[in-house]
This record gives sequence, C-alpha cells and structure tokens, in this order.
Amino acid sequence: MVTARVPEQQVKIGPTRLLINNEWVESVSDRRFETINPTTGEVICDVAEADAPDVEKAVQAARAAFSRGEWTKLSATRRGELLYKLADLIEQNIDELARLETLDNGKPLQDSLGDLGLVIGCYRYYAGWADKVQGKTIPINGPYFCYTRHEPVGVVGQIIPWNFPLLMQAWKLAPALATGNTVVMKTAEQTPLSALRVGELIVEAGFPPGVVNILSGYGPTAGAAIARHMDIDKVAFTGSTEVGHLIMEAAAKSNLKRVTLELGGKSPNIVFADADMDAAIAGSHDALFFNQGQCCCAGSRVFVEEKCYDEFVAKSVEQAKQRIVGNPFDESTEQGPQVDKDQFDRVMGYIESGMREGAQMLCGGSRVGDKGFFIAPTVFADVRDEMKIAQEEIFGPVMSIIKFKDIDEVIQRANTTMYGLAAAVWTQDISKAHAIAHNVRAGTVWVNCYDVFDAAAPFGGFKQSGIGRELGEYGLQQYTEVKTVTIKL
Ligand code: NAI
Ligand code: MG
Repeated sequence: MVTARVPEQQVKIGPTRLLINNEWVESVSDRRFETINPTTGEVICDVAEADAPDVEKAVQAARAAFSRGEWTKLSATRRGELLYKLADLIEQNIDELARLETLDNGKPLQDSLGDLGLVIGCYRYYAGWADKVQGKTIPINGPYFCYTRHEPVGVVGQIIPWNFPLLMQAWKLAPALATGNTVVMKTAEQTPLSALRVGELIVEAGFPPGVVNILSGYGPTAGAAIARHMDIDKVAFTGSTEVGHLIMEAAAKSNLKRVTLELGGKSPNIVFADADMDAAIAGSHDALFFNQGQCCCAGSRVFVEEKCYDEFVAKSVEQAKQRIVGNPFDESTEQGPQVDKDQFDRVMGYIESGMREGAQMLCGGSRVGDKGFFIAPTVFADVRDEMKIAQEEIFGPVMSIIKFKDIDEVIQRANTTMYGLAAAVWTQDISKAHAIAHNVRAGTVWVNCYDVFDAAAPFGGFKQSGIGRELGEYGLQQYTEVKTVTIKL
C-alpha cells in the first residue's frame, strides 16, 4: 500500500494498476502517468496508463463475461445482493475513500463525505431495482401472446469526469450492473485513485471477472478508443459539451453504439424580490461555489430582480468574502483548490475576460496562496447576457449577477443559451414558481432550493447539455434494450 507524501496527512492510496478481468495489470505499453495533489501541486503517485490495446483487452474481458452469461443470467436478486454488498463495503471504508478523494481532487473532506453518502445511496437504490426490471404483456390482434423483455444492452463503455469521481462512478456503474450489463470504465486522468480503490471493493464483493473493468488514462487515447470501439454496445459519457460531440461522432462512424451524454451547463438561478432573501442569498452562494464551482449544474447565471438587486449583490459579496478557502483536510475549509493547473488557468482566463468586457468585479479575482490551484471566491455584478462569462461554462468559483425586470423577460433570457441542464427560482409566489418551472427549458428545476440530489430523481440535460437521463427509474431505460416476443397460440 503506497502512502502519499502529504505532510499533515497519511492517506492510503490503494491500487494504481488497471483492473481487467478482476486482475490488476500494468498497461500493454508499460507506461504510467502522474496524478497531482491540487492542494500542493506535487505528485501523489503514478498510475498505469491505458491506451487502445488496454481498451481492447478490457472489452474482450467484458464481452466474455457478458457471453458466458454467469452475470447476465445470474438471478436478478443475486445481482442486487452484490450491489448491496458493494455499498456496504464502501460504507465500511468511507473515511479512507473520502480522504483519497480529497487528496486527488482537492475537494473539502466534508464534501467528499457528502458525496460518499450519495454514492452509497445510489448503489443501494439500484440494488433494489435489480429484480424489479420487467417488461409488459401486450394485447395484440390475432391468436398471439406478446410480451416484452428488458434485456441488458451488452458491453457498456463509461467515461467519467474528475469533479465527482466516486459519485460519477456510482451513477454509471449502479444502473448498468443492476440491469446485467458488463462495463469498461475510463476514469478522468486528473483523478484516477478513488475509482481504483472501489475496483478493489468490487472484486472483494464477489462480482465475477470481466463484469467491471476500470482503466486510468487520457481522453484522446483511451477515451477515444472506447467511443469508436466496434464491440462496445453503448457509451455513457459525462464531461464537456465539446467532447460530447466527439463521442457521438465516433459512435456514428463506428457501430451506432447507443450514446448517453451528461454535458455542460450555464444554469439560470432566478431570484425574485418576493423571495425569502436570506435563503436566496445563501442558496445562490452554495449553488455557485459548491465544489469549487466545478459543477455541471452550477447556478452560474444569477438573474436578480431589479427591486432587490442592490441588496442581493451587497450581501452576496459579503458572503463570498467570508468563504473559507484553504487546506481541504481542515474541517473548517469550505473551498479547496481547482482540480489542476489547466482548470486554474481556464478560470483565471474567464475572470480576465469579465473585467475586459466591463463587468464589475466586486471581490476575488486572484490566486490564493503560493502553491496549489486556489482561486479566491469571485463575484461579478452588472453582467450582461452577451458577455463571455454569461455565455460559457466557467467551472470555477466565479459568480455572475445579472439584473432583470419582469418574469416574461427573464424566462426568455434564461432560455437564450445552448445549454439546458438545470435552473432554479427563488420566490414565495407559487404562480411565479410554476411559470419558471414549466417554461425554462432545463432537465431539472429547483424551487427555493438548489443541488438537491437523490438517486431516485432523474438528472440530465435539454439541448446541448446532454442526451438521456441518469438516476431514478428513467436511468434504467438507458441500460436496457426492449425485446418483443410474439408467440402463436
Ligand atoms: P473533458 O470533457 O475533456 O473530460 C471529461 C472526460 O472525458 C475525461 O475522462 C477525459 O479523459 C475524457 N475525454 C477527453 N477527451 C476525450 C475524447 N476525445 N474521447 C473520449 N474521451 C475523452 O473535460 P476537461 O477537459 O476535463 O474539462 C474541460 C471543461 O469541461 C471544464 O472546464 C468544464 O467546463 C467541462 N466539464 C464538465 C463536466 C460535467 O460535469 N459536465 C465535468 C468535467 C468537465
Ligand atoms: Mg479535456
């Protein structure tokens, strides 16, 4: 067991090789790459680097497991039991996993623990579904008996991002396994460690060889090899809209594998003057700054009604200034570093563009400390719709506040975006709440709350925020094929 070189913390690292067919192997090329601690900028350790030949091996293992039938034809109840077992093992190792997540990703330890609550909930939720996935009997014309079966899609490729490594692993693995698919998962190159540790728990739980294969590696190499593979039946991806386009193109050019995408967002968070203002200010703060602002559904366009604009701006700036930024292992820390130097530079670039385009920067805007990738919580007011910071996903601790006059105008402006992931409205007027909920084109709308996630509630995007839904019963549909069986009586 390797131990990280972080001065104040001893964190168990777990496996650093590829998980193929329940065995830990080096990559075919023998190459390894470094994963960085974003808190210090130092190397944590290196991990095996998968490329196309490793994807090939993993797909063969997953296909063999699928064809052998010991997984797909295993009783559905038994599949559920294995998922429950995995959830129990994760719960037993929750502290270790949370520390590993914080080490590799930089998110505050309290947030890693929060993520893990959702992770465990997700595995248990889909464990319960495993023996409840069922077809229909259909009264067709003639002397026939017609019914449907919901069968697994087959070998599923899953490509996940770095902002919620353990949670994105759970959202993808749990429904795929509950429905009897086998999986080749590629983690994000920034955060390979926690998923590999879960891989160890998957083996310990007793999942048959080849059912779950986990590869660390880069997108254009290992990720692209998954997207274009001729023997992968479906690809599920979470990440940038830009790469989402590439995944769909690769699927179209190869074997028309099924594609589900969870992509970016520029979610409108709409505050009316009749709202409980303290709740709206605190809620909008969390909606944007949670997870260092690295959330696909971040409330990153804060539309505030003219009548309460000045108060909202002043109090939001106060709250941002008070946000505690620092060592994510400290209990009081609310904000850790951005995940890596690329993201740090990208966010700083957006801050510069906001200033250049004439938005008013009221706090933040600079690096915090002299090592790691920390950015001070930043608030821009007087942001206009056409500015880059109001149009593009920043994915950092940068709030953009925009003024509006009335509800029809704000609905129209909220919808003027290529994205449609989430939205929120803060108001005590039930008619306004419903009007926003029904007219804003987004996959999720929160009313007087934000970032409320539950394994039972579907999540996903309209427009270029994605295709398909994850979580809930809807999430299962993306992992099954419907087969119609007709019998002459
Ligand atoms: P990305 O989309 O490049 O990375 C996400 C995953 O896709 C990673 O596992 C990566 O290795 C993989 N990938 C990259 N290129 C690929 C390719 N050609 N084929 C197959 N897989 C590929 O995102 P990145 O570069 O880490 O971040 C850029 C921006 O994307 C962020 O600033 C943010 O705006 C957005 N993003 C959105 C996320 C979300 O939750 N929707 C998560 C991560 C990033
Ligand atoms: Mg990228």
